[in-house]
Amino acid sequence: MNWFGAAYYPEHWPRERWREDARVMAYLGINVVRIGEFSWGVVEKRPGQIDFTLLDEAIEALYSEGIRIIMGTPTAAPPSWLLKKYPGVLRMDGDRRTPVAAGRRQYCFNSPRYRIETERIVSAYVDHYGKDHRIIAWQADNEYGCHGSTLCYCRNCAGAFREWLRERYGTLDNLNQSWGTVFWSHTYGDWEEINPPKPGPVSPNPSLVLDYRRFSSDSAIEYHDIHKEIIKKSSKAPLTHNLMVNFTDIDYRKLARKIDFVSWDNYVAGEYDPDLQALNHDLMRSLKKAPFLVMEQQPGRVNWRSVNNAYPSEQLAFWIKQSVAHGAFGSLVFRYRQFPFGAEQFHGGLLNYDGTMTERARVFAETIKELRNWKIEDPQKEAAIYIDYENFWIGETDNLNGNFRLLFDSILPIYKAFRNFGYNVDFLFPGESPQSYSFVAIPSAFKLDEDFVRELLKFKGKIFITAMTAQKDQNNNIRVQKADDFQLLTGIHVVDFGGLEGPIKVSSGKNVFDCDFVAEEIEVLDGCQTVTRYIDGPFKGKPAVTVKGNCYYVGTIPDVESIKRIFLEASIERKAEGLARLLSMRSYRVILNPYPYSLRLKIGEEIHSLKQYEVKRI
Ligand code: GAL
Repeated sequence: MNWFGAAYYPEHWPRERWREDARVMAYLGINVVRIGEFSWGVVEKRPGQIDFTLLDEAIEALYSEGIRIIMGTPTAAPPSWLLKKYPGVLRMDGDRRTPVAAGRRQYCFNSPRYRIETERIVSAYVDHYGKDHRIIAWQADNEYGCHGSTLCYCRNCAGAFREWLRERYGTLDNLNQSWGTVFWSHTYGDWEEINPPKPGPVSPNPSLVLDYRRFSSDSAIEYHDIHKEIIKKSSKAPLTHNLMVNFTDIDYRKLARKIDFVSWDNYVAGEYDPDLQALNHDLMRSLKKAPFLVMEQQPGRVNWRSVNNAYPSEQLAFWIKQSVAHGAFGSLVFRYRQFPFGAEQFHGGLLNYDGTMTERARVFAETIKELRNWKIEDPQKEAAIYIDYENFWIGETDNLNGNFRLLFDSILPIYKAFRNFGYNVDFLFPGESPQSYSFVAIPSAFKLDEDFVRELLKFKGKIFITAMTAQKDQNNNIRVQKADDFQLLTGIHVVDFGGLEGPIKVSSGKNVFDCDFVAEEIEVLDGCQTVTRYIDGPFKGKPAVTVKGNCYYVGTIPDVESIKRIFLEASIERKAEGLARLLSMRSYRVILNPYPYSLRLKIGEEIHSLKQYEVKRI
């Protein structure tokens, strides 16, 4: 039985309404709701006066209709009294100006006081609900890092960072050497001389920046451990945390090891691209190579964009079906009922402000009925894309081209090309093996794990590597090229490189295609051949794409069309043709039409027609 439901806030509605809400939920087919993640101020109105009556009664009402609960620990939104009593828990921004104590996620992960308060309140929730069979899962906190809250520059963080560095480097000599601090007279003689790299007009040391990003991500995970330890001591219910769309400030691969299942919040964060939502689903499934939950599904309109547009209800149906097709074992809409107060008053929900059902609710009910017993299978292993979260941070320090965004400009186009050819995509992380896949892509992995390179040397399928891969070492310094495994794999030597102001042309035979952001001058070594050449740009006439055995190297950043051309050069067979998408599982396939018009999808000799927004098992 899959989990379908919504985020519910009983504290927003009069007690008398709860049973009615539960009845309507049951009527819609809802079997799970998430509650509690912003309830601290309700449960502990005044310091030390903890009272769970409200949540108890709400859970009672919900369970009377067979609805089970995902319980959130409430630390993402500390109560007002706590912020007044302990202003030191607040996060500091780069200017060391204290963020205003409004909104949520204002706390610093390294604040000793906030950690104490966290232990206290999480223990209270777990003491109260740890053995309650109606609680089927715990959500720790809410969206670590949301609203730019991963990085903090307070004194606590500076102190904890120095400790973190001592642990990593052992001696200052080692640190100085690893960071190249001789540059600009930065050599440290005392750990206290090292400070968090506040953003500013001058380029800071890239090694310092990378380590501060690592430290900040580790701090969030260490903070999560507080929740985990307390919950695991007293509760058998699985633990999760709701991860975010396109979010790369925290190493989700590391965080995923600290939760029992991955859940994430499926919102359209920029211009809507169904492949980008699909990429996020595949990434979430890949974190644990297991089915995941959509903890928050955008219902339609949100409140936090500059234009909060409306969507047809069928769009919600498509989003839910798309997530299940990509491996979600359930989906909870955010939120159950629209609330006329507070920061999110423009946000859509399943129920109107007045408690009546929206068209979305009716479509939602039909959709989850259809999906209720959809047995989730892992997709067949076809294409794999390598991701190392640290590369997002390297990409955000110094770069050849400040316009280049690793996720959108390098990873997404390769993902789209694979999906357009009809292949499933998994993401692989450092330490994992590509051997069971047919294709592996390494899109601009500035830093490439040496063990992974060794795996690639044994790999029999096709490999695609794009520019700037293996450009950096683990300290975010330039990797001085030598005859190593990477060179053995690719058969190239990057002689020179530069950023590009705009797209340049690359040609292969009669085909001309566009590349952008950077261009590398490539020397082709023994056993390697030129596939295409630059026809303009700084390295005009020189090799742009090369191949050695099964390994293609692209010395620039190709767009989706260009990648498709390279795939064809590499004789990759198209499994599917058309704008609709195909997913292949062991015992079934799914075809998806994300668009508001009918489409046809050609799979080999089969032609399939899809109605608007249709998702079909075939
Ligand atoms: C999420 C958050 C929810 C709610 C929602 C609005 O990021 O977890 O609490 O704010 O956005 O779309």
